[in-house]
Amino acid sequence: MKQYGRITGWGKSVPARILTNFDLEQMVDTSDEWIVTRTGIRERHIVGPGETTATMSLEACQRTLKQANVSPEDVDLIIIATSTPDYLCPPVSSMVQHQLGATRASAFTLVAGCTGFVYGLVTASQFIESGMYERVLVVGAEALSRAVDWTDRATCVLFGDGCGAVLVEASDTPTGILSCELGSDGSDWDALMAPGGGCVKPFGEEVLHNREHYLRMDGKRIFKFATRKMAEAVTNVVQASGLFWDDIDLIIPHQANARITDLAMRRLGVEPEKMMVNVDRYGNTSAASIPLALCDALEEGRLQSGDHVVLVGFGAGLTWGAAVLHWQPEPESEGLINVEDSPLLASLFKPVRNAVWNTQVAARARLQDMTIAAMTPIHRLQRRIMRK
Ligand code: UT7
Repeated sequence: MKQYGRITGWGKSVPARILTNFDLEQMVDTSDEWIVTRTGIRERHIVGPGETTATMSLEACQRTLKQANVSPEDVDLIIIATSTPDYLCPPVSSMVQHQLGATRASAFTLVAGCTGFVYGLVTASQFIESGMYERVLVVGAEALSRAVDWTDRATCVLFGDGCGAVLVEASDTPTGILSCELGSDGSDWDALMAPGGGCVKPFGEEVLHNREHYLRMDGKRIFKFATRKMAEAVTNVVQASGLFWDDIDLIIPHQANARITDLAMRRLGVEPEKMMVNVDRYGNTSAASIPLALCDALEEGRLQSGDHVVLVGFGAGLTWGAAVLHWQPEPESEGLINVEDSPLLASLFKPVRNAVWNTQVAARARLQDMTIAAMTPIHRLQRRIMRK
């Protein structure tokens, strides 16, 4: 039987320490006014002594598993998306796997810039759909405050630290990712980079002297790329999902800059209430920003069971990724209706809506499978002809 990846748990971890724009005014030549008007950021969380990507990931995973009522030994795989691992070697994912007590789990760290979480979620769903795994933890975590140059006002005001995680579990009923797109355009690889510390320029006196171990960014180039790609990718995945625009309840974009989100929203023609924005509270937390925004959307009651949500990310690489999700953390049979709490009409409407939805998704999935099966030999033939 075909398996689907259902998100059944989620959790976040953010450092207690907060750095406001006014604090930054004391550190570099900047102003609250510049940061707010150019980016929408008001404050960000910063790791304190002893806090790292691993400690935040561990806390977010523990919260996620508790919420899903799953024990660590039942996790099959842990994927941690980050550009700021605790060490270049070993992978931070194995450290977290051990500390969590996920004794059966395999683990790997995924580097795809700010798009890392979307890449991770799609990868997790593929492992589940293939039948290889039943429970996968996907984490987006960053301690960017340890990678930025605190003397460079062009970058240090933008980034923040934090972590968000989800648990994806196998489900017999259609749910989870309905459509997705992952992309990379390496021609702009140098738009956001740390020039030193890798194998091109191993860490040493020269790197240290030139401050090349810190992040450098061509903000304008990424801005242009981001506004174009976000709208394109969202349009592509919504169309591929077979849903109508009105069926989309919430868009959760990577939180880099409120101006980017605003422009993309206008290009797409969606109402502001359909766009999740929390960059004002966290700054740009790279791979952590989408799962953090997802957790906040749930806390704020902006996402209900049965809703459709679009996740869209972009960042270093340059990479991008988007996915349409059917959000239904509880299997349909497990008490979707709380008669005491819900008005009569709503409690009647919910199961009907879910039943219609599930039938739709099942039909679409069958149709997609049939189309893929029919198209695969044609594509192979096409490739063979083109090679000749
Ligand atoms: O997560 C994915 C990766 N990153 C992104 O998505 C970031 C995308 N890019 C952006 O968000 C924007 O390009 C920035 C917010 C980074 C910059 O905004 P901008 O409107 O493109 O500003 P700019 O770089 O053109 O700088 C405008 C002016 C410059 O001064 P002059 O040359 O006009 O005199 C900068 O020196 O603002 C100056 N400036 C600052 N002033 C006060 C740059 N940083 C600051 C600062 N405070 N922190």
